[in-house]
Amino acid sequence: MITPSRTRRRRCAVLLAPLLAVLSGAGAAPAQAASAPATPPAPASSPAPAATSPGTTAKWWHNAVIYEIYPRSFQDSDGDGIGDLKGITQRLDYLAQLGVDAIWVTPFFPSPNADFGYDVADYTGVAREYGTIEDWDTLTREAKKRGIRVLVDLVVNHSSDQHPWFVESRSSRTNPKRDWYVWRDPAPDGGPPTNWQSIFGGSTWQFDKATGQYYYHIFLAQQPDLNWANPQVCAAMHAVMRFWLSHGASGFRLDATPYLFEDPAWPNDPDVASGPPVWLKPYNSGLKEGNVALRGLRQVVDSVPGDAILLGESSTATIEDLRKVYGAHADEINLPMNFLYGNLTRLDAKVFKKTIDEAETRLDGLPPVFFFSSHDHSRQWTSFGNGVDNDRIARLTAAMTLTLRGTALLYYGEEIGMADLPADLLEGFPLGPKRKVADKRDPERSPMQWTGEPGAGFTTGAPWLPVAPAARTVNVARQQGEAGSMLGWYTQLLALRRTEPALREGAYVPLDSGNGDVVAYARRLPSGEGVLVLLNMSGRRQALRITGWPDAAPRAGEVIMTSAPSGAANVVDPVLEPYATTLVRLHPAAPG
Ligand code: GLC
Ligand code: MG
Repeated sequence: MITPSRTRRRRCAVLLAPLLAVLSGAGAAPAQAASAPATPPAPASSPAPAATSPGTTAKWWHNAVIYEIYPRSFQDSDGDGIGDLKGITQRLDYLAQLGVDAIWVTPFFPSPNADFGYDVADYTGVAREYGTIEDWDTLTREAKKRGIRVLVDLVVNHSSDQHPWFVESRSSRTNPKRDWYVWRDPAPDGGPPTNWQSIFGGSTWQFDKATGQYYYHIFLAQQPDLNWANPQVCAAMHAVMRFWLSHGASGFRLDATPYLFEDPAWPNDPDVASGPPVWLKPYNSGLKEGNVALRGLRQVVDSVPGDAILLGESSTATIEDLRKVYGAHADEINLPMNFLYGNLTRLDAKVFKKTIDEAETRLDGLPPVFFFSSHDHSRQWTSFGNGVDNDRIARLTAAMTLTLRGTALLYYGEEIGMADLPADLLEGFPLGPKRKVADKRDPERSPMQWTGEPGAGFTTGAPWLPVAPAARTVNVARQQGEAGSMLGWYTQLLALRRTEPALREGAYVPLDSGNGDVVAYARRLPSGEGVLVLLNMSGRRQALRITGWPDAAPRAGEVIMTSAPSGAANVVDPVLEPYATTLVRLHPAAPG
């Protein structure tokens, strides 16, 4: 626990001079996003920005690969069946070999685990089951040596109801921390102040008998919302950020960013069931005051050397709303996750083309953030797979995420084709005293499959969640020695991102494949050199006729990668095998 520095009664969000807006024009090259006035030189200890070529203005996060680790399930180092920080450190060489630029570690703080760590009881501590702060320091130091940055998952919207701040806040109406949370009087009939629903179901209000008021929670009742209108809350969270930045973090994945503010008029919803989904109601999300708070958080990461960033869990309904999350002057969240892409679960070429084109052309050149799998999403192997062609489909979704302009997020295990845990294995599986039944989100959180042994190389003890039976054949050890494995495919894609200038810095060129089942685009440098990406989203062979080049059609070179033996070698009218992915080298059009 830290105590925030004595707070003054002032707005804590915007303390620095207004930042210069340096948005590039509508060009597709990675824009130099506005950043702190004159970025200070990176200290000698910061990781080599491997994904950024020397001499370009691109920052590391404009085209990074960030690997999400759910620490409970990644690697157990002490045999208690629960993954831990030391375990992550043991696997850094693997991550370096895979070629990731950064890892995002989901919450490892002391927590009653009502929402497995997303209910934080101490923002600057390490839960005993995950290790110690010294283990954390070792992790960031060892990661740095390998050129890997580390992001902390910061749960800014709410704490645990066991956090000392909330314990104080609920102790009396006059407690100095009362206003750190959102307390309201009952409605005239004694019921909740509004009829709003929480994202996890039920009313968003919890009655507190002792003080006769309700508190607000957009998630579980054990996750009371912090009051971001209170400058002390904002200052306390800034202090938390400085703590982790001083402990080697390169920034934060910000949890649940749309929900920092609620409509101060507390309107009743005339019809809760209609309109936008419960997580995107106009009164509970995306309020403009939130942008001011996010700008304040951005200023904290910009105030330290080393290009620290904010990666935002920022659901939006439209691309226009997503653009706003970057900040009007690109001075809020560096990397808002694109849920318009991440929430897609069906291979539909028309939908993908629209979603990708939008992200690449309507964010003012700012870096989009593409991902499919996460600790909150079904694994892409399972959600897109049809039970027959899963392998090719997984290669396709990976190649798309990893060849688009912008930053890509991977979720541990997706690189070996891990699937969701079968539901019957979870039924009745004892998860300990805190959470008796498995959560519906647990299937995607099963232990990392390192080897084919019992425990999958994840633990020598009894794993906290069952190891998938598939681990016997789907595991890292086996794929490391196997030509053409999924791990090989991912490793090759990550290597290509680093070595192919067009994939790092090239413009996104939307193309017309001439076939409603095939997505086609190119990444091209001003020289005309580039890479053509062809994705067959159907189970049939497809013929294509590619058009839509902004200038003379380039010449096709060799096939760089393909998931089908008879992939396209001809850029004009290739034929693509079912669910095939093919990457073709492009050269400038022949003169004349
Ligand atoms: C985010 C997290 C999710 C958590 C919720 C509440 O959506 O990703 O796992 O349950 O926030 O903190
Ligand atoms: Mg352990």
